[in-house]
Amino acid sequence: MRRADFPHGFQFGVATSAYQVEGAVDEDGRGPSVWDAFCERPGVIADASSGRVACDHYHRMDADLDLMARLGVDAYRFSIAWPRIQPDGRGATNSKGLDFYRRLVAGLRDRDIEPVATLFHWDLPEPLQRAGGWMSRDTVARFARYAEIVGQALGDDVATWITLNEPHNHMSHGHIMGTHAPGLRLGGDAFAVAHHQLLAHGAATTVLRGLTSRPIGITNYYSPPRAPDGDADLAVLWDAWVNHMFTDPILLGGYPDEIWSIAGRADAIGDGDLDTIAAPIDVLGLNYYRPTPLERAPAGAPLPFVIGSLPGVPVTSFGWPVVPDGLREMLLHLARRYGDRLPPISITENGAAYRDTLADGRVDDPERIAYLAGHLEAVLGALRAGVGVRSYFVWSLLDNFEWAAGYDQRFGIVHVDFETQVRTPKASWYWLQEMLGGRS
Ligand code: FCB
Repeated sequence: MRRADFPHGFQFGVATSAYQVEGAVDEDGRGPSVWDAFCERPGVIADASSGRVACDHYHRMDADLDLMARLGVDAYRFSIAWPRIQPDGRGATNSKGLDFYRRLVAGLRDRDIEPVATLFHWDLPEPLQRAGGWMSRDTVARFARYAEIVGQALGDDVATWITLNEPHNHMSHGHIMGTHAPGLRLGGDAFAVAHHQLLAHGAATTVLRGLTSRPIGITNYYSPPRAPDGDADLAVLWDAWVNHMFTDPILLGGYPDEIWSIAGRADAIGDGDLDTIAAPIDVLGLNYYRPTPLERAPAGAPLPFVIGSLPGVPVTSFGWPVVPDGLREMLLHLARRYGDRLPPISITENGAAYRDTLADGRVDDPERIAYLAGHLEAVLGALRAGVGVRSYFVWSLLDNFEWAAGYDQRFGIVHVDFETQVRTPKASWYWLQEMLGGRS
């Protein structure tokens, strides 16, 4: 596997998100986010930790940027913490918070790395949650205003703008299963959370369009279903609820019909909303980790499916099945479904957690190398089939705060000792460095 195997101009990058790496949650005027509040609840985070310190990236940004420069990546996908920009989610701008991202973007540009900024990676300002969060339509206007502040400050300095990260998982884990912040169990009513996020995406896209000429898009979670033999309906339902629900309204102008057997609160859809959501985008971000084995849920469960297993398929330390070809399958599925309406695709996250150990200053992670190589092979397969994939980002640059799993699941290509904050590039980092072979 070499960079030269990919089309000219194909970009390679690494990804992180604010709450998972920054730490410094009380500094320079940052307000609390839903994750700060959620982590205080007993029993919700596997190791009872939080993102309070995380990778201390807020203070170690320059060293982390140097790691990226040495690695030889073309781009870095990070997220901006709304609570740093507007501690209450509304009102005046906290200039110190904005300065951090100004320095980050400048530091990337100095190193010839393109900044790819995500506006929302699940860290809603806690005061907005108290006012209803994504269940409230008012959050849409708040988000558009936040996008305006950040767009005015960073505009064309950012190379690509991503509005939201995985609105599906934010709805599902955060508002149906209750396993992520804000920890709600709203059943089908959580459709309002989906709709308001999509509306916020559309509104922010329009705002940013007036402030920058850079590409704008959204990042969605995609996972091909594996239903039991003879239960094709379950796969159709999963496709609608996970793979199509956050893409159809943007690219086709409406929700897939099948979702209404799960979703409630159709009254959240106001006049003109679908037009706002369908604002043209320039890039579709795709996060892929695994296919999803499905089983029928027992009656009365919040969703019609539960996640099963795939016998005989290797799994990561998170228990996620490793099926690289599922990525090719997903890309071809999107190309078939959306045809000419599909914008260029960026694989904004792909990676794996393994039980890495640091010994003699080295971390050997052959399984992660095999995972990454296998998935890049799948990208090449999709490219050969004519799918317009433009870039690929490894999740993640650093071991970090993996939400409800705390620090227990390590996704980094750089090992982080959370006691000392010492960074040690893993074998996968050296593998990627060699593959990239300097800049094209
Ligand atoms: C994705 C999230 C990302 C990270 C990876 C492992 O769903 O977007 O923040 O947690 O999973």
